[in-house]
Amino acid sequence: MNNNSRNDQKEISIDPWGSSNIEDYDDLFNHFGISKFEHLLPDIPNPNHLMRRGIIFGHRGYQSIVEAINSKNPFSVLSGFMPTGDPHIGHKMVFDEIVWHQKQGAKAYALIADLEAHAARGLSWNDIDGHAKNYILGLLASGFDLESGELYRQSSNRRVQDLAFELGIETNFSEMQSIYGFSDNTELSHLQSVLTQAADILYPQLDQPQPTIIPVGPDQDPHLRLTRDLASRLRLFSVTEAYASFESNDLELIYLKQAFDKLSSKKTPLNCNDVLELLENENPSDENLIALSTKLQSASTEVFSPRIRIINHRATSQLFGELASRISEEKQVYKEHMDIFNSSYMAIDDIVREFEIEHGGYAFYPPLSLYHRFMSGLTGGKMSSSIPDSHISLFEDPESGYKKVKASTTGGRESAKIQREMGGEADKCPVYELYAYLLTQEDDSYAQRVYEECTTGTRLCGDCKEEAANLMREFLKDYQQKIKEVEPLLEELTLRTHPEDSD
Ligand code: TRP
Ligand code: SF4
Repeated sequence: MNNNSRNDQKEISIDPWGSSNIEDYDDLFNHFGISKFEHLLPDIPNPNHLMRRGIIFGHRGYQSIVEAINSKNPFSVLSGFMPTGDPHIGHKMVFDEIVWHQKQGAKAYALIADLEAHAARGLSWNDIDGHAKNYILGLLASGFDLESGELYRQSSNRRVQDLAFELGIETNFSEMQSIYGFSDNTELSHLQSVLTQAADILYPQLDQPQPTIIPVGPDQDPHLRLTRDLASRLRLFSVTEAYASFESNDLELIYLKQAFDKLSSKKTPLNCNDVLELLENENPSDENLIALSTKLQSASTEVFSPRIRIINHRATSQLFGELASRISEEKQVYKEHMDIFNSSYMAIDDIVREFEIEHGGYAFYPPLSLYHRFMSGLTGGKMSSSIPDSHISLFEDPESGYKKVKASTTGGRESAKIQREMGGEADKCPVYELYAYLLTQEDDSYAQRVYEECTTGTRLCGDCKEEAANLMREFLKDYQQKIKEVEPLLEELTLRTHPEDSD
């Protein structure tokens, strides 16, 4: 990375505990390697309203989940909630995401981040207990199925804490500083809560490694980047693709594959010079190729052919030897890596993971993530638990919910006359978001109609808010009825998550 891009990255670094809104979602794609979600939409059976309406906008590696859903392979979903206040309509989105994945066949997990709330936000245990209970009620009322899913509190999950401790061995203070901007004054328990979150994210894989999707707001991305790294550091072996003795990153591999596909029918065997020549002719000033060209140059007359490479990370050479004898395909075994020819990445990845599990390794898949847009606050800015008028709690008196919508800021113009001429700005309107994110879940045409009427000037804010406020009142009434219905489940659950209390 050159200095420039490092500076850019600093300017838009993400602070998971900050209160700032994400200003520009495009930055997330360009700077952090988050991929656009829309391309995956056509392959998803029964996408939910958040997916259909672009509220879920980005992901890391969600293709694996689409594959798991479509081929009915095991996968998990997990998200966590910091109980700093009661859950509000913004959290409802995450409840819906968890429940949707559970319905598609995921083993579902949701956790209460009580250690984080205590360490990073200074909440008292008393307050935490009250809010934690309401999050769990919210999850259950949104349809979380307790029979197949698991709910836990960080503080009462011993396995998560043990895993957090192990993960702490794989990182150090300076890495924490560079990811989170921690200072010399950062409390150690705050650091511990980061490790706990990484352990939460990997927890679904402890018994059986499997693709795991973590639906969160984009402010949580630093935790995902860290955890993806930690997951691979804990592997006994890693599996990558290669074409010669050197290693390549994902982007370089794409170029190499294209080159191989073009040249392999013309000449065998190919060598690295042939590929260098092609790449330089076709992409004369492509910056992405600078490092790759150097590698090809020094490999020179080495044979260029696709292979799957297994690298020994932390196993003994004896174990590495045993792994080699498991693999019957044509291979070349070196001291710390081996190359396997005429096989597929998936096949080798499976063999290696199975071997790693047999020998007591974690064999984690890197965790995957799904990002949704934040709901805007009703007072402008971010919807926040700590600004009462900015949000509507799921436990709010329906009448108060009605009033907050009526008092909301809008994307309306200065006067009705101008609005009729120019249309309203639905894209900047918290009330429009209420329709799209929450109030018209199954009915796409309703949200669309509001949008069109608004932007063409046939809908004015007064009536529009009245309509939304009525829907909000109804939504809260229904939801709170569901909460009443699930309350008995909570008592059972308390016994289950605190076995010591039932003794
Ligand atoms: N840090 C998250 C928040 O601020 C809560 C959290 C803890 C979490 N562990 C998690 C989120 C694991 C997703 C996955 O809300
Ligand atoms: Fe928002 Fe409705 Fe006004 Fe449009 S008409 S700006 S959607 S409140």
